[in-house]
Amino acid sequence: MKNNKMQVALLGLGTVGTGVYKVLKRQKNEMVQKLGVEIELAKILVRNVEKAKEKVEDPSIITTNWKEILEDDTIDIIVEVMGGIEPARTYILEALRKGKNIVTANKDLIAVDGRILMDTAKENQRDFLYEAAVAGGIPIISPLKQSLYANCIEEVIGIVNGTTNFILTKMAEENMEFEDALKLATELGYAEADPTADIEGLDAARKVAILASIAFNSRVTFQDVYIEGITHITARDIRYAREMGCEIKLLGVARNREEGIEVSVHPMLIDSRHPLASVNDSFNAVFIRGDAVGDAMFYGRGAGELPTASAIVGDIFNVAQNIIMNCTGRIHCTCYKSLPIRKMDDIVSRFFMRMYVDDRPGVLASVTSVFGNNNVSIEQFIQKRKSGDLAELVVITEDVLEHDFNDSLRILKTMSMIKEISSVIRVY
Ligand code: NAP
Ligand code: HSE
Repeated sequence: MKNNKMQVALLGLGTVGTGVYKVLKRQKNEMVQKLGVEIELAKILVRNVEKAKEKVEDPSIITTNWKEILEDDTIDIIVEVMGGIEPARTYILEALRKGKNIVTANKDLIAVDGRILMDTAKENQRDFLYEAAVAGGIPIISPLKQSLYANCIEEVIGIVNGTTNFILTKMAEENMEFEDALKLATELGYAEADPTADIEGLDAARKVAILASIAFNSRVTFQDVYIEGITHITARDIRYAREMGCEIKLLGVARNREEGIEVSVHPMLIDSRHPLASVNDSFNAVFIRGDAVGDAMFYGRGAGELPTASAIVGDIFNVAQNIIMNCTGRIHCTCYKSLPIRKMDDIVSRFFMRMYVDDRPGVLASVTSVFGNNNVSIEQFIQKRKSGDLAELVVITEDVLEHDFNDSLRILKTMSMIKEISSVIRVY
């Protein structure tokens, strides 16, 4: 504190940093009323000073020197919105050891190194808050860690990537193919120049690892998550899913089973009556099932300048209150268990499968016997259409062990009567 003002430093002034700057400015007077002290943005760390100068009223607060912030004892709260692993990791650890409190949106870092960051915060009795790291503006970390703490959480399912949800919505509603929908997402600024982390499911996997760790009180890291993206989904898959009363969504799925934690990110057919099925465009939602609360869903903007800043400034507020009440470090890591992560092969799923086969007698019988011989029970088998000498088949399985289904798939791929296996998508 300096002159009864809570001093905050911002690391990064990109999309989120600029949002934080704007919201802090907009909330300045309100905050004095709410907290009893002023929150002052004392320093902003960037690499490119010229670019940053255009965004702030007082350019003297911009610096490229981390030590200037670290060594300033009047700064109590550091907001890390640079992103990436290094130097963010080193800066956060150094700051915590110096007695500073941290607010961050850095899911990449938390999903890999959450344990050391939170342990260091605890050792130093400092706050480490990261509401913005999952689903941007939607309050989900704090509800899971606090409001729902009385529950054993059985399942967390989320649409936690706005770019892919936008793409899938456009494919469904405007019958676009993946590449065209991605192009539109890029033109509208949803997808980044390199969209790999979004479309390959990596961004969602980081978020679901963080959610699973909190929900099940056991550390789950990015490396534990089974990941499939949406690049193989076609407009035809979505059309057929809709004919069956389903939507296709990229879901992060985490379940707490007796045998261990199941954690994955992949596209799924989901019944159109499920609340997640109507989450469209770039919106995010997280659906939770707890043993006391039952079902609960959190919905809103999962990214963007102001929604993300909303979560960050909320965290700054909480830290400031804790500093005033002299109780920082109160909410720390809740991973007091060490549960195993289940192998994907051992879990049970339902599958939708689309394939092209020779259009002649006996083919259906051969396909079903491969499934039957591998313990895969079929719920629906539909011949969709004929095209020349080929027939298009759609199969929906009952709940089956993933390794049984994969064994069938391996055999089907070797059969000359099967010309193409066009899609394999799990069903929620
Ligand atoms: P961004 O637009 O790329 O901004 C990053 C900022 O950090 C830039 O101002 C950059 O400065 C600065 N920076 C990067 N490395 C630095 C370094 N080594 N030293 C000093 N400054 C450095 O990123 P963003 O979209 O705001 O995202 C920031 C964080 O929020 C990430 O962890 C991201 O995952 C997370 N997040 C973002 C969103 C979203 O909607 N964008 C939503 C939720 C969470 P220069 O420009 O000078 O290089
Ligand atoms: N790229 C992410 C999304 C936003 O599309 O949801 C940042 O987490």
